[in-house]
Amino acid sequence: MCGIAGYTGERNAPKILFDMLKKLEYRGYDSAGVACFYEGKTIVSRGKGKVDEVRKRSKINDLDSKIGIAHTRWATHGEPSDENSHPHSDCTKQFTVCHNGIVENYKELREELTARGHKFLSQTDTEVIPHLIEEIYTGNFETAFVSAVKKLRGSFALVAIDSCSPDEILVARKESPLIIGIGIGENFIASDTPAVLSETKKVIILEDLEYGIIKKNSVSIKRLDTGLPLEKAVQDIKWDVKAAEKEGFDHYMLKEIFEEPAAVKNALKGLDDIKAAAKKLSKYGRIYIVACGTASYAGLVGKYVFERFGICAETVIASEFRYSTVNTTDKKCAVIAVSQSGETADTLASVKEAKNRGAYIVSVVNAVGSSLTRLADDNIYAYSGPEIAVASTKAYVGQATTLTLLALSEARELGKITEAYQNEILDDLHRMPDKINMVLNEREHIKKLALQLRDCKSFFYLGRRLNYPTALEGALKLKEISYVHAEAYPGGELKHGPLALLEKGVPVICVAPNDDLKEKMESNMQEARARKATIIRVAEDGELKVPVCDPILSPILYVVPLHLFAYYLSTGKGIDPDKPRNLAKSVTVE
Ligand code: M6R
Repeated sequence: MCGIAGYTGERNAPKILFDMLKKLEYRGYDSAGVACFYEGKTIVSRGKGKVDEVRKRSKINDLDSKIGIAHTRWATHGEPSDENSHPHSDCTKQFTVCHNGIVENYKELREELTARGHKFLSQTDTEVIPHLIEEIYTGNFETAFVSAVKKLRGSFALVAIDSCSPDEILVARKESPLIIGIGIGENFIASDTPAVLSETKKVIILEDLEYGIIKKNSVSIKRLDTGLPLEKAVQDIKWDVKAAEKEGFDHYMLKEIFEEPAAVKNALKGLDDIKAAAKKLSKYGRIYIVACGTASYAGLVGKYVFERFGICAETVIASEFRYSTVNTTDKKCAVIAVSQSGETADTLASVKEAKNRGAYIVSVVNAVGSSLTRLADDNIYAYSGPEIAVASTKAYVGQATTLTLLALSEARELGKITEAYQNEILDDLHRMPDKINMVLNEREHIKKLALQLRDCKSFFYLGRRLNYPTALEGALKLKEISYVHAEAYPGGELKHGPLALLEKGVPVICVAPNDDLKEKMESNMQEARARKATIIRVAEDGELKVPVCDPILSPILYVVPLHLFAYYLSTGKGIDPDKPRNLAKSVTVE
């Protein structure tokens, strides 16, 4: 949902800012722009297109500027266009702003400012911000910035510059992430840590309702409401720079699928935290698992594993939970919030609401230091490493592994399984990375199959129980990066409607582990075969082959060929799977 960058130091700002935008492009890529100070003026260069396209045609590259701000956009208000690209300036061009989030009261602000003579050039909500600063300004940038920010309703991460204060960048945050990378004689501002990792591993994380004055040799953070200065901790980010780069793979997505074996290994590192959380969870009568998109499918895997052990758990999509299910939460209930980024707006809102009602909150999260980690009572990190591709893959495997371990630990805690059984599953989980590697070694075969089916207009995915989420995840991945219609159903639902859509040649991908429901799944496949659909089984002897594993772990393994299948179908269609149209990595707006 838009990436923001800022730089102040002794090096060439346009170069650093465009480089940072490249690393933030997963947050949005419909337009981009940079603003830098040069010879007493703010020079803005922006336009529709991906970062590289905008960079190529930008004259700002030639400027010897040492300070500036930048933005890569995922459109909310106003279509992707040159005019709607950030940065935005006021009438006098003194104040320039980049923004991530939504200014909910922008219409009324715009009307008021228009009545006072301000001229707007874009359809964005953001443009009201520089005009507000202009309206309020009486000679002090910080005072005007803070007063303007206080008038905004909604969510924001902001960077702003004033051509009369050319040695500083002002920043502010409410509900949209912003970090400050601390260098020596230089400082960086970004929406997310991967953007600064190549320059520094020391970061300050801005919290809600904080603002900052960033200069090349100083960072000062204050509270927006009181203006009081804050002592902020500088955190050391442990991620390796390489972890956020492609390392010879054609796409981040492929690299991240190849990191799925490591995602299982790394999730196992969280076992102590998982056991501690399970101990607390065992005291709650009701468990909700709350998440969006792929994370919600990992949440569904969690639900089925809990249920397998006779423990009640409900997985609810966060955008629904926050407006309905939340009414049923209280201090007798626990919420497991699952999120890769830890910044998803609906997930955060659900957690805040449930917490207000007294619920115990535990996160299953990947991004260290994200907003979710600061809201939750306890955090379980998946330790999957930075995930850059918009389509979530290794994070899903990490989340499904973590939730399986959590359910297993709680079942043991409640005496529903023996220690011997728990150890048996743990042993099998330790062997899982090798099994995933065996699937990855089948990539040429999976690619061939994807290319054969590349022109099909519609796909169906079937799964039962634990692998119904696998089917959902396989279908979502295909939709997301191949723009092909795909639907997932529990096998038993087929005859209740969707069967009417099956005809000759329609691919039906059936996730069919070797478990007690195998025969039921076989019957569902027969129903589809009888309509001349093309059946592709994910099974030990399937067209998409997987090694033998305990059925309870099958969601972790069986999803891998589906991730590769979606990847190769996307690239086979000439689509860039890292940047699917209309989507962004972190959905930080409602
Ligand atoms: O960062 P989160 O895990 O909270 O993100 C949730 C969803 O937005 C995300 O999983 C989305 O569905 C992915 N693009 C799917 O690949």
